[in-house]
Amino acid sequence: MKLLSVASEIYPLVKTGGLADVAGALPGALAAQDVQVRTLVPGYPGVIARLGKAKVVRRYEALFGVPATVLAASVDGLDLLVLDAPDFYAREGGPYGDPAGNEWPDNWRRFAALSQVGADIAAEGLKGWRPDVVHVHDWQAAMTAAYMRFGPAHGVPKVVTIHNLAFQGRFGADIFAALGLPQEAWGVDGVEYYGGIGYLKAGLVSADAITTVSPTYAEEIRSPVHGMGLDGLINGRVDRLHGILNGVDTDIWNPANDALISKTYSARSLGGRMANRRALESRFGLDHDGAPIFIIVSRLTWQKGMDLLVDAIDHLVGLGAKLAVLGSGDHPLEGAFLGAADRHRGRIGVQIGYDEPLSHLMQAGGDAILIPSRFEPCGLTQLYALRYGCVPVVARVGGLADTVIDANEAALAAGAATGIVFAPSDPLALHGAIGRAVRLHGQRPVWQAMQRAGMRSEVSWDHSAARYAALYRALLAEVA
Ligand code: ADP
Ligand code: GLC
Repeated sequence: MKLLSVASEIYPLVKTGGLADVAGALPGALAAQDVQVRTLVPGYPGVIARLGKAKVVRRYEALFGVPATVLAASVDGLDLLVLDAPDFYAREGGPYGDPAGNEWPDNWRRFAALSQVGADIAAEGLKGWRPDVVHVHDWQAAMTAAYMRFGPAHGVPKVVTIHNLAFQGRFGADIFAALGLPQEAWGVDGVEYYGGIGYLKAGLVSADAITTVSPTYAEEIRSPVHGMGLDGLINGRVDRLHGILNGVDTDIWNPANDALISKTYSARSLGGRMANRRALESRFGLDHDGAPIFIIVSRLTWQKGMDLLVDAIDHLVGLGAKLAVLGSGDHPLEGAFLGAADRHRGRIGVQIGYDEPLSHLMQAGGDAILIPSRFEPCGLTQLYALRYGCVPVVARVGGLADTVIDANEAALAAGAATGIVFAPSDPLALHGAIGRAVRLHGQRPVWQAMQRAGMRSEVSWDHSAARYAALYRALLAEVA
């Protein structure tokens, strides 16, 4: 089977979060299911720079008014189709905004263009290659499904995956004329959304299947609390909704063979973590002592509950623990973490920024990772933590609830516990969870049993890739 994937990020070429990890790892996992994936991504400078030998496979004199080509190239085992439209993507800054963090004002056009090209490839193929199924990710690619539905590729099955309902791609109604869609696409069953235009919404009404990245999140988004205005629509399409848990690339994230950490180790040689712990302490200016080290590797935002964590820092230090923070995001939160590091020298270390190699060392050297998210579609850092013997301390929401087994009496007795799960996502419960983690850390055999149980957890893509493949086949059977 041939699959066209459309995404606005892909590891290792461009990444701001978990979407990139998923878009980068799923093609390899699907190959084992006999699904051949080509991924269409925007030609950001960082992508173009990595292309090496590329072939032009499609040309546009005017794609939304600008010249563009589609380049085919293979990078790190990924079969890429790169939309090279310099007017849209050859900019300094991130994939969605300028270096100061302001969103690009023409994002509606940049991602409508990406989606239009996805639909064109679905309709016309590329030099003998034509996708059987199209799978698109998040609002930046969701319009692909709408362009397909209202265009010549309407018969090709299309899957839209929600990675985060908080980001919906909403724009004013005035852009409708420029989108190049037929008039019938306007309306509640089309792109119209609360009087404006919603890209994710348009994708969700156009998709043959909607997936999201964990079973619990698939349930949560049916309620007003987590549905973010789309719960009504989602409930109306619940027969088309599937929660399929993310996996991790177990080659990139493998403590037994990871060039980015100080010393490799496995569940049988946990002692190897000590060298990583020392390296982590030195990197973050933390005291060298036996106190538990909590880590944070995260976007510093409200979704991730980082404000709750800032407020829990004095409590954590009071319990004798240490904390290493790697992240970036909301400026007040960045400032609050830096302030805490100043107040608690040797106990709190903070690095503001994005540092992929350092994130590996932190998972390898930290004792526990703190993830107090208010909502979490899946979450990947707790999966990396499980694999690295860094015990996850997580809020009981979304994919966090699906992947971590709480250290209650029964689970501890059965040797099944892999972490600490708390609810609700509030200061009191977070304080309690940090306290439980510190106490359990003091009981070496219990703690090590949790580490080992975590390292044995199934976090690979195998099972979920099989579920995606089965879904694609079921959709193909529907149209046959
Ligand atoms: P989200 O996509 O909502 O940010 P996920 O847990 O799914 O959350 O994925 C986040 C990804 O980004 C993980 O691979 C994590 O390791 C990585 N990450 C987040 N912040 C940083 C950072 N400051 N430096 C390095 N990696 C980071
Ligand atoms: C989003 C979600 C995160 C999920 C990731 C990959 O960024 O916030 O929970 O793990 O997508 O699916």
